[in-house]
Amino acid sequence: MDMKEIKTIAKEKMNGLCALCRNCDGVYCAGQVPGMGGAGSGLSFQRAYQKLRDIPLVMRTIHDVTEPVLKTELFGLELSFPCLGAPITGTKINMGGGVTEEEYCTDVITGAVAAGTVSMVGDTGDPACFEFAVKTIRETGGKGIAIIKPRSNEEILKRIRIAEQAGAAAVGMDIDGAGLVTMKLFGQPVGPKSLAELKALTSSTKLPFIVKGILSADEAKLCAEAGAAAIVVSNHGGRVLNGTLAPCEALPEIADAVGDKMTVLADGCVREGGDILKYLALGAKAVLVGRPLIWGSLGGRKEGVQLIFETLKNQLSQSMILTGTADVSRVDKKILRL
Ligand SMILES: Cc1cc2nc3c(=O)[nH]c(=O)nc-3n(C[C@H](O)[C@H](O)[C@H](O)COP(=O)(O)O)c2cc1C
Repeated sequence: MDMKEIKTIAKEKMNGLCALCRNCDGVYCAGQVPGMGGAGSGLSFQRAYQKLRDIPLVMRTIHDVTEPVLKTELFGLELSFPCLGAPITGTKINMGGGVTEEEYCTDVITGAVAAGTVSMVGDTGDPACFEFAVKTIRETGGKGIAIIKPRSNEEILKRIRIAEQAGAAAVGMDIDGAGLVTMKLFGQPVGPKSLAELKALTSSTKLPFIVKGILSADEAKLCAEAGAAAIVVSNHGGRVLNGTLAPCEALPEIADAVGDKMTVLADGCVREGGDILKYLALGAKAVLVGRPLIWGSLGGRKEGVQLIFETLKNQLSQSMILTGTADVSRVDKKILRL
C-alpha cells in the first residue's frame, strides 16, 4: 500500500468527518468535537498548526552529517526515532466508525512496534475502550503506554493497576481532559487535580507517570514537584479549550524550566519529519503524532500506521541531513530562525 491509497480509503471511510486536507490545519473541521476538529471556532488547532509552520528551518549543507542518529531511549524502551503515537479514542463518535475501538488500539500499537516505536492508548467514557487499550498492550508484551482521563483518583488508581498488570511501559493522565464534552456525554466525571492528588498518583506506581496537556512553565514545575517522570506539552489537538497558546510557543520556556528534571514531550500538528525536528530543537525529547495515525488505521490498518511512522522517520532523517543535525539527542536551536 502507498500513502495515496491509504488516504483515499481513509477519506471514504471518514464519511465527511475528515476531508484529509492537503494542509491538516483545523479549518475544514473547525468546531467538530466530537469529530476530528478543534473546539469552538478551532483556533487552538489552527494556531498549533500555523505557529509551527511559521518557524523556518535553516538549511545547512556544508558538513559531514550523512547518517544521522535517529534512535532514542524513552521509559526503558529503545525507539527507532523520537516519535510516538498519541492516545486517541472515540472511533465511532470522532471517526465515523470506520474501525472499531479494538481495531484502532491494535493498529496503532502493532503499527508503531513494526516501525520500531510505541503508541500511547487512551481512555474515554466508554469503559470498553480502556479494556481494549490494555489488552493490546498485554498482547504486545508491554509495548504501549496507557493514558487515563482525569477521573477521581480512586478510578484512576484502578486503571493504573490494570495497566501495570498488562505490563505497560508507562502510565499517565491527560489532565487537560478535565472539562471534556465527550466525557460529559457518557456521564463520566472528570476534573482538574490538586498538587496533592497528583502526588498521590505518581507515588502510587513504579511505572513512569506522564502528565499530558501542560502549556505553562509553572504547571510543568508543579508536575516535577509532584514526581511525574514526564509531561506532554500539548493542547489536546486543540480539542479542549478554544484560543490556547500553540504547544510550540509554550515549549521553549517549559523545557528551560524543567528539562533537566523530567522528560519533556510535545505534540500538535506533526505532519512531516521537519515538524519533529522543530519540536526537538525547541526542547522536546520526542513528539507524539495524532490525526495522521487515524488516517493510517482507517486507510491501511496496521500497515497504514506503520507507513505513517516510516514516512515521518525518513523525512526526519532528510531534515537532519539538510540542517546538519547529527543526533536527535543534540538538536541545536540554531537550526531554527526564531
Ligand atoms: C479524534 C481524537 C481523539 C482524541 N482522543 C484523545 C484521548 O482519548 N486522550 C488523549 O489524551 N488525547 C486525545 N486526543 C489528543 C491527541 O492525543 C493529541 O494530543 C493530538 O491529537 C495531537 O495533535 P495532532 O492530532 O495534530 O497530531 C485526541 C485527538 C483526536 C483528534
